Amino acid sequence: MLESLPMASQLTERTVVLGVTGGIAAYKAAELCRLLVKAGARVQVIMTAAACEFIAPLTMQTLSGREVLLDIFDSGRRAGVGHVEVASAADLIVVAPATADAIARFAAGMADDLLAAVVLASGAPILLAPAMNTTMWENPITQENLARLCRGGRATSVGPDAGQLACGWTGAGRMAEPDEILAAVLARLGSGVPARAGALEAQRVVVTAGPTWEAVDDVRFLGNRSSGKMGFALAEAAAALGAEVTLIAGPVGLDTPALVARRIDVESALEMREALRKTTPAADVVVMAAAVADFRPGVRVLGKLSRRDGKRQAARAARAIPLVPNPDLLAEIGRRRRGGRPYLMGFAAEVGLAGQALVERARSKLAEKACDLVVANEVGRAGVGFGSDENAVTLVFSDGRVVDLSRTRKDKLARAIWDTIGPELTVRQGPAQDPRETVPGAKNQRTSRAKGRDA
Ligand code: CTP
Repeated sequence: MLESLPMASQLTERTVVLGVTGGIAAYKAAELCRLLVKAGARVQVIMTAAACEFIAPLTMQTLSGREVLLDIFDSGRRAGVGHVEVASAADLIVVAPATADAIARFAAGMADDLLAAVVLASGAPILLAPAMNTTMWENPITQENLARLCRGGRATSVGPDAGQLACGWTGAGRMAEPDEILAAVLARLGSGVPARAGALEAQRVVVTAGPTWEAVDDVRFLGNRSSGKMGFALAEAAAALGAEVTLIAGPVGLDTPALVARRIDVESALEMREALRKTTPAADVVVMAAAVADFRPGVRVLGKLSRRDGKRQAARAARAIPLVPNPDLLAEIGRRRRGGRPYLMGFAAEVGLAGQALVERARSKLAEKACDLVVANEVGRAGVGFGSDENAVTLVFSDGRVVDLSRTRKDKLARAIWDTIGPELTVRQGPAQDPRETVPGAKNQRTSRAKGRDA
């Protein structure tokens, strides 16, 4: 997988400043540099004095094909460029490894070495690959520094992974692998990278989107605020990349995106479950972006609960409506799947959770529902999440990787998500059942409601 990730043109015309700070993981920065160059990027390496204790600048110079910048005072003299030029030329600043000290210094706005000065002087997005001892990583000061840098979305982080650390500890703190960092770089720059048509060619993708409505009587329902925009954006982006997309839509007022092969409109969680039963056996990828209602009224009142029935009687009837749990559709697919197919992407929209707490909640959902990936986001904040055209998400993978995608339009975010997982899907792809054999009559299935809405 590592070698299959970069494609020679993916980062062409992009300038990546690769900052290397002083940790044992600095040796992995050499491999990252090689991968970035291979993907077509112009890589300008900056090393701190401590980094030079771990890896020779000559190694980075040879791999990047450029003079490595070391010192704030002689960068201009030796290489003909000052820190402001480096800062303004950067499309992305990657700091790998990012030590606790480096993160603290960036968060404090310090500028007393070349890398810190470039970070401060540049408006380019920053990708941090933290690497440190577990206690340092878990220290609230480090977490607060990182959160401070990431607030507003300019900086995002990838990793750290958990495992055996060089210091002898076992726990979180190991720098993400170079191929994971490269995937995060591609995701971060994804919106500007020309679309690679056909990247999802031959993938059969099922996307659920929108809320579900659980009927109370013939006119009322229990629902939620999901607009369906993120699911629709994912369906549209997958179709544009060549996938054969089936979109299972809850009640939303959105038009079917161009190139989506099939749309199935549903109203309730049970209807969505039925549509998934028909479509998932042949799917390579299932994306559960729908906000499925966790409960439904256990009885459905025929007609309309009316005030005219007498206030007390109606109030009693309303109070007496029992709620019963809906099935967890994602967990059902997770339990049913074999050999890692289909690739399963869940969502976790959390109120009042951010940073590490958000990642931890996503991890528990990932395990409960046996997914490959949970796309986690905080909802309830102004301008992101439900109903909004923008979102910021954290991708939490079953192999421990964490990739932050900063706030941007949902269509760009959808592309960045596919850019991140696309290479993995290509590797996984093998023979699948033909949907036309397993789902009789399902092709081009659309309910009359869908036709009415799209007309
Ligand atoms: N999901 C599902 N079926 C349900 C509820 C949720 O398939 N009955 C899926 C959603 O589509 C989403 C993921 O599970 O991909 C997480 O949904 P979320 O509402 O965040 O989690 P819950 O499991 O419902 O947990 P809670 O509401 O307690 O946070």
